[in-house]
Amino acid sequence: MGGMMSLFTWNDDLCVGVAEIDNQHRKLVQLINGLHDHMLAGDAREIMGKVLDRVIEYTGFHFTTEERLMKAHGYPHAAAHLHEHEKLVATATDLQTRLNSGHALITAETMIFLKEWLYHHIMESDQLLGKYLNSKGVV
Ligand SMILES: [Fe+2]
Ligand SMILES: [Fe+2]
Repeated sequence: MGGMMSLFTWNDDLCVGVAEIDNQHRKLVQLINGLHDHMLAGDAREIMGKVLDRVIEYTGFHFTTEERLMKAHGYPHAAAHLHEHEKLVATATDLQTRLNSGHALITAETMIFLKEWLYHHIMESDQLLGKYLNSKGVV
């Protein structure tokens, strides 16, 4: 999956067992790889800004999906999980603000941060959520 040189290769160990979440994670991995491709191509700040906007927008949509499922099924670890989501949104929004004002670039370090965050969040917090939802019959 991905473009000229994927940062993040999807593998099925990432699946949490809930189709709606897994499909959104695949899309997020694609979007992050797309941002990485634009970075490697040395695209202009305006283009990077638009691609980052799309990543942030889709991330917000995805987090809303998970938060809706947590609420609907009484997930006991919702507060800690929401806190992780909020921290990532704050970091990404800060990057977006600095990028738009000309004070930052999207670098390899930025991309590695995003990839590592998503990978660890899926493998730890989202996997726990997936197991809980499975136990409630959500697949
Ligand atoms: Fe999550
Ligand atoms: Fe997730």
